[in-house]
Formats: sequence, structure tokens, C-alpha cells
Amino acid sequence: MNKLTECILNRNSSLMPVWFMRQAGRYLPEFRKIREKNQNFIKLCLNSDLVTDITLQPMNRFDLDAAIIFSDILMIPYGLNQEVEFKKNFGPKLGNLNIDKIINTNNNEFIKKLSPVYEGIRKVKKKIKNQNLIGFVGAPWTLLVYMMNRESPKKNFDINYINKNKSASNKILKKIEEAICLHVDKQIEAGANVIQIFDSWANLLPGNELENYCYMPTLKIVEHIKKSKIPAICFPRGIKNNYINFCSIVKPDCISIDYEIDPSWIKDKVNGIPIQGGMDPKILLTEKENIKKNVEKFITIFSDYPYIFNLGHGVIPETKPEIIEYVIKILRERKR
Ligand code: CP3
Repeated sequence: MNKLTECILNRNSSLMPVWFMRQAGRYLPEFRKIREKNQNFIKLCLNSDLVTDITLQPMNRFDLDAAIIFSDILMIPYGLNQEVEFKKNFGPKLGNLNIDKIINTNNNEFIKKLSPVYEGIRKVKKKIKNQNLIGFVGAPWTLLVYMMNRESPKKNFDINYINKNKSASNKILKKIEEAICLHVDKQIEAGANVIQIFDSWANLLPGNELENYCYMPTLKIVEHIKKSKIPAICFPRGIKNNYINFCSIVKPDCISIDYEIDPSWIKDKVNGIPIQGGMDPKILLTEKENIKKNVEKFITIFSDYPYIFNLGHGVIPETKPEIIEYVIKILRERKR
């Protein structure tokens, strides 16, 4: 067992493994160099040699306990035959929602379209031995939001649109759940030994809709992953106190907290479920003294609790790579 799985499955509190969401990405000059030459982001995610190189970039620089496969949650809509494009300075832009086309995508077609992702996992797996390899998916709700809204809901989102089109949204949701399970299975078969579920837009749900769109659909995915004996990490971003309800209903193997959550508050409330992350990524843009203070805060709070060091969201592109190295050094030198 590697450090991450040992921390999660055996609830070993002495290890404190570390990895970073978006550890492969724009803050690394070597990523930007590849990205410049590969303007089409989906195509880049389908080039298994480049996927392997990019996934390993942070592993070659830093002493991390896990690699996360370089891919995107929007590969699922792509696999379901909805067009996906990443526009410069805009973010993702999805094509028209053709429900029949999506629902009629069969498993073989989906697997064939996404096979370079699985090939990338196989290639990375061969090159890392002592670290975990994390596969991932978007949660059903977050994928439904992107597929129906067709762009990031950051600036422009109306939940009534989803509620008014209940029959369409339920049909798509069911198909998304199936596709997620399939994508998880293929990633595990290729060598992923941890799966993280990103529910990046769970914060858009009013309290009375969380059960319907967040807890229940995620529970199905978590139960599916558990059948493979692979740990599932859930990240229902922005749901505040409802993290507690989420944990008691979904029972993930590990819960990833965002930076609005008070780590010492949540620690006693999730029934011993291992916790990941929490530190605000913006802290990494401040002076070293402040970074150290904050990292040590997490070390102290979780010294007697199974905890994976990570951030409360992805690494911000402006982060200096040497700061990631600095954080890892603090963690490695901590007193136990
Ligand atoms: O963490 C990793 O290192 C693995 C790679 C990874 C990417 N996306 C690569 C990527 C992971 C785990 C994701 C997940 C993802 N993708 C999420 C969930 C996590 C989160 O951030 O909330 C979401 C919502 C997406 C959708 C997405 N992909 C958006 C909104 C964007 C554009 C804006 C942005 O955040 O960059 C992307 C593009 C994307 N995915 C990039 C990378 C490295 C940037 C590509 C570029 O412009 O160079």
C-alpha cells in the first residue's frame, strides 16, 4: 500500500501524505511550454504521451505522494458526444445539448473516444512505483451544470432552467451517472488506485436541493467505487455546514474540504473519516513566514488525525513552483 491509501484505508494518522489539486498546470513553466504548442485542450488531454509527461512534471520536481492523471472533468461530456472547447480567457464552452445524441451514446463508443485517457494512466503507472495514482471524475451535479449551462456557471447560471426542464435534466443525469461509473471503472482497470470526485459547483444548490442533486447521485458513484475496493475522495465544494450531512449520508473514504471550512471544527464531526486539504490556495501567494504559519496550523490540528495535506481548491496559476517545494519541505520536516 502507498502512503495515501494507507492513510485513508488504515486511518493511519502518522503519515500525512501530500499532493496538490492542479499540481500539473499553468503555474509550471514546463506545462506552459507544452500548452503553447497545443492550443486544443481536449486534443492535449487525448495525447497519451503528453498526458504522461504533464502528469509526471510535478512528480519530477517535487517529493509528492500521489500523481493525479492530467485530464479534465469535461472529458465525460466530450465522450458523450457533446462538443467541448476551451476558449482562451473564457474557459470551457460546450456545444448544443442534443439529448438524444447524448443518451444514445453507447459504452463502446464512449470508451473508444476516451481510450487515450486510459492509455495515459497505463503509461504513468509504469513510471511511478511508490506513489499513488489518482484518477478522477466530476460529480453528477457539476457535470449536469456544465452540460446544461454550456459554460462556467461563475458569471451566468440559473438553477430554474434546470428545474423547469426536469424531464430533460433527469434523463441527462441518469446518463451522466452511468458514464461516470464507466469512466471510473476504466481508470481503475488502467491503474488508478484512488478516485477523487469533484463537485465544484455543489455551492450553487440551495439546501433543500442538496439531497436530490448532490448527496444521492454522489452516493451512487461512491458505492460503485467501493465495489472495486478503491478509496473514493469527495470534494463537495462550498456546501459549508452541510459537509457534515454529506459525510453522514455519502460516507466517502476521505473528505476533501474547501477553504471556507474551519479544519478544527470539522475534525470532530465526521466520524473519523480521513480529511484532505483545506488551506486557501491564495496563501501560497503571500510571504514565506505566513505560508509556514498556515501550514503549521494544519499540521498541529491534524497531528492525531488521518489527514492528507492539500489545498482548499486548485493551485493558482500565479503560484511560484518553489513555494510548492517549500510547503513540502515544511511537511517532511515536521515533528511527529
Ligand atoms: O489537478 C490536476 O493536476 C489534474 C488535472 C485537472 C485539470 N482539470 C486540468 C486542467 C483536474 C483534476 C481538473 C478538474 C476540473 N476541470 C474541475 C474540478 C476542479 C475545480 O477546479 O473545481 C473543473 C470545474 C474543471 C473544468 C475546467 N477545466 C475549467 C473551468 C477550466 C478553465 C479554467 C481553469 O480553471 O483553468 C479547465 C481547464 C483546465 N483543466 C486547465 C488545466 C490544467 C487549464 C488549461 C489551460 O488553459 O492551460
